[in-house]
Amino acid sequence: MRQIWIPRPGPPEVLEIREARDPLPGPGQVRIRVGAAGVNFADVMGRMGMYRDLPPMPVVPGYEVAGRIDAVGDGVDASWIAKDVFALTRFGGYSDVVCVPESQVYGRPPGMTLDEGAALPVNYLTAYQLVVVMGGLRQGQILLVHSAGGGVGIAAIQLAKRIGARVIGTASAVKHDFLKSIGVDFCIDYRKEDFEQRSREFTHGRGVDLVLDAVGGGSFRKSYRALAPSGRLGMFGLSAAAGGKRRNLLRAAPAVLSTLRLRFSPAQLMDENKGVFGVNLGHLWQEVDRVASWMEDLVQLYRDGALRPVVAAKFAFDEAAKAHHYIQDRKNIGKVLLVA
Ligand SMILES: NC(=O)c1ccc[n+]([C@@H]2O[C@H](COP(=O)([O-])OP(=O)(O)OC[C@H]3O[C@@H](n4cnc5c(N)ncnc54)[C@H](OP(=O)(O)O)[C@@H]3O)[C@@H](O)[C@H]2O)c1
Repeated sequence: MRQIWIPRPGPPEVLEIREARDPLPGPGQVRIRVGAAGVNFADVMGRMGMYRDLPPMPVVPGYEVAGRIDAVGDGVDASWIAKDVFALTRFGGYSDVVCVPESQVYGRPPGMTLDEGAALPVNYLTAYQLVVVMGGLRQGQILLVHSAGGGVGIAAIQLAKRIGARVIGTASAVKHDFLKSIGVDFCIDYRKEDFEQRSREFTHGRGVDLVLDAVGGGSFRKSYRALAPSGRLGMFGLSAAAGGKRRNLLRAAPAVLSTLRLRFSPAQLMDENKGVFGVNLGHLWQEVDRVASWMEDLVQLYRDGALRPVVAAKFAFDEAAKAHHYIQDRKNIGKVLLVA
C-alpha cells in the first residue's frame, strides 16, 4: 500500500509517500481499498506542528476515506466484503488501504459517489453537531457561518437551508456567487468588511441566532457580540493561528493569546441571554454509537436530496503537497480530496 506521511513539522513539501505491506484487518475490523481520502484543515495544522491531537511524528494523518471493503477480521460479518463504503479513521486515512473498526464504517447509499463519500464524514458530522445537536437552529432563525465556502461551512449551509433558516456567510469575495447559488442570503467579505457590523445591518440591529466560528482569536469575541438575545456561539477551531505555511509562533501568538484570554462569565451570559459551546469531533471516539445515529440522519438527508457534498478539487497521492497549498491559499470551495 501507499501512505502519505508527515515526517516532521514543516511546509506542504514535507509530505512524503512511503510504500508498505498491506495491513490485515484485526478482530472487529474491515479492510478498505481506498479510492478517495478527505483532506481536513486539522491535517494542515498537524503538518505545521500546530495540532495537539496529532500523534507524534512520523505519522500518517487523515480522518476519513471512501472505497470498497476487500477483507474482514474475526467477528465481522463477511457480507461486508465488496461493499462500497465510507469511514471515519482515527488518523491514517491518507492511505490507499486502511483497516478500521466496523463501527466507524458506513455503507454508501445508492447514488452516493466515491468522492461524495470521502467528502461527507468529518464536514457533515461537525456541521450536524454544531447546527442541529448543540446549536438547535430553528426555522426562521438566522445563522452566521464563517469560512462559509469551506467543507464545514457548506455542510452547515445545506443543513440550515433544510431547517428553513436564513444564512449569512463570511468568505473570500471570489466565493460569494457560489454561496448565493446554494442559498446564502447575505455574503460578507471578511477581509474588507466588518462582519459584526454587516450582520447587525442585515438583522436590523437584532443580531443573529447562531454563529459558527472556527477562525478563533479576536473573531470569537466579535461573533459573541453579533448574537441576538437567546443566541448561541459555537466555537470549533482556530484557523487564525495558521498564518503562513510553516509554524511561526510569533505569527500565531495573537490568535492563541486572545483565545486564551477569552472569558465568558456566568453573570454576563445570564444578563445577556447568550450561550457559548465548543465542538471537537475528534474527541468523540468514546461516543461512536451517538455519532452513528447522527450519521444515520445525515445519510437520510442525503437520500432526500437535502445534502450534497461539494468537492472543490482532487489531487493524486503524489500531489498531496499541492492539496495542502490549495487549502492554505484559500482557493477551495468545498472539500479537497486525495485520490488513490
Ligand atoms: N472541531 C472540529 O471537530 C472540527 C472539525 C472540522 C473542521 N474544524 C475546523 O473548521 C475550520 C474549517 O474547516 P474546513 O474543513 O471546513 O476547512 P476547509 O474546507 O479546509 O476550508 C478552509 C477555508 O477556511 C478559510 N480560512 C480562514 N482562515 C484561514 C487561514 N488562516 N488559512 C487558510 N484558510 C483559512 C478559507 O476560506 P475563506 O478565506 O474564503 O474564508 C479556506 O478556504 C478549520 O479551522 C478546522 O480546523 C473543526
